[in-house]
Amino acid sequence: PIVLSPNLTTCHHSLTDEDHGVYCCPPNPEAEESIFDFKFPDSSSPIRVRRAAHHVDKDYIAKYNKAISIMKSLPYTDPRNWYRQADMHCLYCTGSYNQEHSNSLMKIHRSWLFFPWHRMMIYFHERVVGSLIGDETFALPFWNWDSPEGMMIPDFYMNGSFFDVDRDRSHLPPQVADLNFDYDFAINATTLPPRDQTAVNTAFMYNQMVSGAKKAELFMGCPYKAGEEGFCDAPGTIEAAPHNALHTWVGCNLNPERENMGAFYSAARDPIFYGHHSNIDRLWEVWRKLRGTDDPAIMDAEWLDSYFYFHNEKSQLVRIRIRDVLDITKLRYKFETIDNPWLNARP
Ligand code: C2O
Repeated sequence: PIVLSPNLTTCHHSLTDEDHGVYCCPPNPEAEESIFDFKFPDSSSPIRVRRAAHHVDKDYIAKYNKAISIMKSLPYTDPRNWYRQADMHCLYCTGSYNQEHSNSLMKIHRSWLFFPWHRMMIYFHERVVGSLIGDETFALPFWNWDSPEGMMIPDFYMNGSFFDVDRDRSHLPPQVADLNFDYDFAINATTLPPRDQTAVNTAFMYNQMVSGAKKAELFMGCPYKAGEEGFCDAPGTIEAAPHNALHTWVGCNLNPERENMGAFYSAARDPIFYGHHSNIDRLWEVWRKLRGTDDPAIMDAEWLDSYFYFHNEKSQLVRIRIRDVLDITKLRYKFETIDNPWLNARP
């Protein structure tokens, strides 16, 4: 079948969520680089263990902090540069590429591309971070916003290279996040006391993960197919909220598009983006296990064979398919085992 994939030679100006022009194309024409097919990491390499952001220790934070400062100091021509990494998100979320087989724009939100594409992005990012500090075991933290102890911005994101001034001041710790935050509505809304907000969040999680996500399409998002008519525009439960909701909640209310986190073109400039998506990635795993079968939830070859391009830690351009990222053990990482309190929150 004709699958979704970007044509790298087409990189062009694109539009933000609010239709402002933006340009995030790579400085070197990537199409002229040699392209490597994705290979799984060696099965004897260490498993990286992603831990909750409110559990990580000082040494870990110091190492991670150092890696981010190195990335910020690299030239933009280096694919490991912090803003180059952020622009990977911009490229694929604003439609900087046309599809391989049509002139339609390639976009990765609001459909079944959401989970696998973001898994790829943070997988490569994690390995770049680790390689810059010579740590093969480095794993991204996850912002555990679905657990009461994780429901505010984790402390370490307030310091060093983790800090981002472009965040909503009234949402900094100890403010409890609203997992179903709706900006337009929030203007007139009163904030709930922390205990009530926590309870509302927990019940909401049960809905997004369990009662509202029984069918694969509801959780994963709608089938986005190649071609002019192919875009389906119906995000899965978790993508819509807490995912979108928290992007908006973290981003700065004083900026035109709530940058950084509140606009897709700028979101990955804020280090918390990676903790946010690491948790989304974990929840995909949790949902997969709740299904109780190892078969992929989606068997459609148009999904399984869709492919994208990322730079690996050796700055090689790699072509990777969705079917390559369905087993995280093969990708050599896992998540610290924690309780998911919302699992017992059936109303
Ligand atoms: Cu591609 Cu959290 O957005």
